[in-house]
Amino acid sequence: MAVVSSVGIIGGGRMGQAMARRLHTQGIPVQVWNRTAERLQGLAAEGIPVTSDLPNLLKVHPVWLTVLSDGPATRSVWSMPGGMADHAAPEKIWLQMGSIDYPTTLNLAHEARRRGLRFLDAPVLGGPMDIPTGRLIVMTGGDEEVLEAARPVLEALSGRIVPMGPVGTGTLAKLASNLLLAHMVVGLAEWLSFGQQVGLDPLRLWEVVKNSKLYNPVFEAKFPAMLEENFQPSFALQWMAKDLWNILETARQFGAYTPVAHTMTALYQAAQNHGLGEDDYSAVHQLLRLFSRGTGT
Ligand SMILES: NC(=O)c1ccc[n+]([C@@H]2O[C@H](COP(=O)([O-])OP(=O)(O)OC[C@H]3O[C@@H](n4cnc5c(N)ncnc54)[C@H](OP(=O)(O)O)[C@@H]3O)[C@@H](O)[C@H]2O)c1
Repeated sequence: MAVVSSVGIIGGGRMGQAMARRLHTQGIPVQVWNRTAERLQGLAAEGIPVTSDLPNLLKVHPVWLTVLSDGPATRSVWSMPGGMADHAAPEKIWLQMGSIDYPTTLNLAHEARRRGLRFLDAPVLGGPMDIPTGRLIVMTGGDEEVLEAARPVLEALSGRIVPMGPVGTGTLAKLASNLLLAHMVVGLAEWLSFGQQVGLDPLRLWEVVKNSKLYNPVFEAKFPAMLEENFQPSFALQWMAKDLWNILETARQFGAYTPVAHTMTALYQAAQNHGLGEDDYSAVHQLLRLFSRGTGT
């Protein structure tokens, strides 16, 4: 098996920090860079190496792992002066693990490969809380050889790696997964909001679902959040809105008919416009409650 000496993590948000902790505890040396350096103070206090010197991180580490908000953010770190493009070299591997759009994935992969850099799109299903328990799932797109070289890092992060095909297919699988996740959470939100509006006891409604074929762990996690209106984010609503926009764009590109995705995108965009973007993505329930108010029996 390939040996990975160290990983430079680019992006110290919720996912980047959780990945850094996981790799560190699994014995893989890491160093983390984040645009906003102060955000890494907690990690540094835990003894996990952080840096504000991106060019040096790019020079030192053979594996680069990006986990940034979206395509434009990832592209900006690629093309900024002293950024990834300036340090690309054949002995390096780039694991692109953020949920970004499909065209940017293909473009960055193309530019990386032109410089000899080995690229794998490897976005994930599962949030920061799934990382310490190994429940994260990685969907990869790229050459077998790159996947094998990166395998020790991916196995340290995740309980399951699913190779999807050539470059870009990891991103496509991630978009498909978040389309299903959005359906589930919007469904739960509408179920609860409807029940509340018609005057049913939510806990009794939950008793029905919990003991039925409808039950699943996403509902288990998000029902209490909606009921208690506690939207402390694990996955920010603004990033689900971004994923839905990217799903629509890709559906249009490939000719996929996704009528409900249009509605969910409008819903998430409205929730963002109502100031819920930094809340958890389950806060879409708040929007339904807001629009329902005053019309109950
Ligand atoms: N949270 C989850 O449950 C989850 C699960 C699966 C996939 N994802 C995906 O993983 C990615 C990261 O999510 P997260 O939850 O970690 O989000 P987050 O906590 O909001 O972190 C976002 C990261 O992107 C960086 N960033 C944003 N714009 C940037 C720019 N223009 N230049 C450089 N850096 C920029 C942020 O830096 P600053 O701190 O400086 O803003 C931060 O490091 C997203 O693509 C998300 O969709 C998240």
